[in-house]
Amino acid sequence: MSSSVQVTNSPAIKNAPLEGLAEGNGYFSNRVLLALILGVPYFLKKWTPIVRYGGFKTYWFIVILLALPITIGDVLDIMEMRHDWASFQFTPELFKYVFTRLIPDVIFHTQSQDETQVRDHYDRGDDFYGWFLGPRMVYTSGVILDPTRKETLEELQDNKLALVCNKLDLKPEDRLLDIGCGWGTLVTFAAKNFGCDVTGVTLSKHQTAFGTERIKNNGVSHDKARILCCDYRDIPDGPGQFTKIVALEMAEHVGIRRYGTFLKQVYDLLDDQGTFVLQVAGIRQDWQFEDLIWGLFMNKYIFPGADASCSLAWVVNQVEKAGFEVKNIDVLGVHYSATIYRWYQNWVSNKDKVIDAYGERWYRIWVFFLAYSTIISRRKTDLSYYYFSQGSFSLFQLTLRKNLNAVHRIEGIPSHTSLYGMRKTDCLYKTG
Ligand SMILES: C[S@@+](CC[C@H](N)C(=O)[O-])C[C@H]1O[C@@H](n2cnc3c(N)ncnc32)[C@H](O)[C@@H]1O
Repeated sequence: MSSSVQVTNSPAIKNAPLEGLAEGNGYFSNRVLLALILGVPYFLKKWTPIVRYGGFKTYWFIVILLALPITIGDVLDIMEMRHDWASFQFTPELFKYVFTRLIPDVIFHTQSQDETQVRDHYDRGDDFYGWFLGPRMVYTSGVILDPTRKETLEELQDNKLALVCNKLDLKPEDRLLDIGCGWGTLVTFAAKNFGCDVTGVTLSKHQTAFGTERIKNNGVSHDKARILCCDYRDIPDGPGQFTKIVALEMAEHVGIRRYGTFLKQVYDLLDDQGTFVLQVAGIRQDWQFEDLIWGLFMNKYIFPGADASCSLAWVVNQVEKAGFEVKNIDVLGVHYSATIYRWYQNWVSNKDKVIDAYGERWYRIWVFFLAYSTIISRRKTDLSYYYFSQGSFSLFQLTLRKNLNAVHRIEGIPSHTSLYGMRKTDCLYKTG
């Protein structure tokens, strides 16, 4: 093993094993594995009292008994060693998928296509999502604030909600729009803790019903916070209607073709002195071939129609072209790994419930998605170990304002989190 590759040992994330980072094909031998699977039972049978009088069937019984723990293991651990047993190839089936589904989806991205694909995903069932997202029901990356311990998923999400509200600099007189609001957690959090007027928008009927109930259960009146079930293109309000706008990992669903139009729409809806926080998943410029294979898996099985393949430079270019000025960017890939790792653990712990309600297939698709995504968003070592490292998938959180002469930039300084950090009081807020 190479001694110059360093592993991390942070309680906040699932740390990569050295083998997974430093070694490629060759470290692991299928022949040795086979010899162990067949050889160890042979010697056990030969030397163990009583058992040694057994016959061929006894031998095979011991083989099965011992091989199970060797060959069936934790999916995430098995995926850490994937370079030992998998190769990443562009199969004919993938070619077919790219030309018959992916490219047409990217080219057309019609409103009806979005409605079908988004509802198919998010309206599967709230219980399905609750089994990995936990009680917060937030389907985006959380934020690590204390890397010296394993913060819970709920802490990571509360940190993120507080951070976003801090960047938005929310005040009671604000009118906030949350585009792609999911199950309404940020809508509720902002209205409850900051007293502002909040409108959430989602295409999902289940999310609308769940979020509306959550707002009510938190004692927030319908006059203060509401969720609209509509496409972002149909948001009813007029120019400058909102003083603050947020979109957390919704722009991936907009697609490359309509990205610019979407951002122009946000620009128009935003007050001239307003703030827009855009959180979007993407990929680093120097992505690896394996990332393409992972991305195609995600497109085919998890988020059809969604696109998280854009680099930070591309996103910045798009927001600037739409008339925004970047105030601040945080790159949060490793925070995503920590979040998805906790989703993975929740999902595995709810295995029986998932299989009872949705069947084995859905359990297995999701366990693979969560295990692989924990790894792919985790880290990247230095370039000399480029081929053994991962982490090309990342997450960008941009704080934007209009690029106008008349913007009062001086007033945005106290909420510039990379200069001042989060206000401690923001971390005390909780979601109900
Ligand atoms: C990954 S989820 C993020 C949810 C939420 N922001 C959170 O942090 O949990 C993406 C959200 O975008 C919404 N969405 C996707 N396409 C949309 C569209 N065309 N119009 C409105 N909402 C859309 C989905 O309904 C979903 O709520």
